[in-house]
Amino acid sequence: MSESLRARVYRILEDDGLPSSARRICDWFFVALIVEWLAEGVLRTLPGLGDVLRTDMRALEIAVGGVFAVEYLLRLWTAPERYHAGAMADWRARYGYATSWLGAIDLLTVAVFWIGDIVLGLGGGTGEFLELFAVFKLTRYFPGVDLVLSVFRTEARPMGAALAATLTLLLLASSAMYYIERTAQPDAFASIPHAMWWGIVTIATVGYGDMAPVTPLGKIASGVVILIGIALFAVPAGILANGFAVELKKRDFLVTWRLVAKLPLFSELDASVIASVARLLRPRTVPRDAVIVRKGEPGHSMFFVLSGEVEVHVPAKNVKLGAGTYFGEIALVTDGPRSATVTAAWPCELLELGQDDFRRVCNEYPQLKSKVEREAASRLARNKEQ
Ligand code: CMP
Repeated sequence: MSESLRARVYRILEDDGLPSSARRICDWFFVALIVEWLAEGVLRTLPGLGDVLRTDMRALEIAVGGVFAVEYLLRLWTAPERYHAGAMADWRARYGYATSWLGAIDLLTVAVFWIGDIVLGLGGGTGEFLELFAVFKLTRYFPGVDLVLSVFRTEARPMGAALAATLTLLLLASSAMYYIERTAQPDAFASIPHAMWWGIVTIATVGYGDMAPVTPLGKIASGVVILIGIALFAVPAGILANGFAVELKKRDFLVTWRLVAKLPLFSELDASVIASVARLLRPRTVPRDAVIVRKGEPGHSMFFVLSGEVEVHVPAKNVKLGAGTYFGEIALVTDGPRSATVTAAWPCELLELGQDDFRRVCNEYPQLKSKVEREAASRLARNKEQ
């Protein structure tokens, strides 16, 4: 069974955790278009240049807007490929994409341009501002942005506590300053909300200088608020720095001797052999539901599961493989196509061994070769029985 056109388009458009040069080219193409789109949106506001861009570069803007529209339709069409065949109805998969954060941003960009600007000819500030929301489309191509979002998500509770402490300080400090300064500066400190502007600028240690205490008591209180503000502002920075360190460690794991030694297939080998095998293995993190290998495709590598769980889609009952197991060896042993589709049942950390390196390891360590061949044969036999 060869890969369908929809599956091929999906694999070019969406990152399923596995490398693909077609997708890399496609990604850079879209990044270039988004940057052009944003640059035009920003430079348009320059006096003089704005009119030139609006007229002379209009054709380019329409072309880019057209590509974004086609991209949206293609993503909608290929959305069901995210799931293994039959795992989810096509319309539900498409609804899932349309209502996802990135789906909404894709639609917003297209709708604001084609409906707001071209069809209704609204133009104007709001439309041009909304077109700049295309900046969020970049989050798809730079995992760093996704990293920031997940750090904020995981650190939401401590960040919430730090925010609550800051708001408490803001309320108390601004109220105190209002009562202290209102007689000396009735205009500047006219109410507690007025004083809150002073409070925000002071706690953030920005100090615009448009509002400052003049009474001795006001100055003393201000000094205390500034000192507490510095201490409070350091808290979220610390929380986020720790969150980033933890998240990065989770994602970019190094292939160490210790990791490889834990895999049952290699555990009986000498330490020096394990070290040389470790150099051949490439780390991969795969998101939940991603299709790792697809039935019928040629196989170029095999995978070891370090953490998480994969699901092998075989006729009678799907097989789940957890940490320490391997898959993708049948195509390498038989030199044939993939015998089954394998998806990530949970987010997985995998180690990938390329076809050439697999052959090299097999030639050097025949005992490994026969172990893998025996396992491949018994898996194939089990599949035939079912
Ligand atoms: P390969 O054919 O290269 O790609 C799909 C993989 O699924 C296959 O290699 C095996 O590693 C794995 N696989 C196939 N059938 C089974 C099974 N019955 N039990 C466990 N794993 C299997």
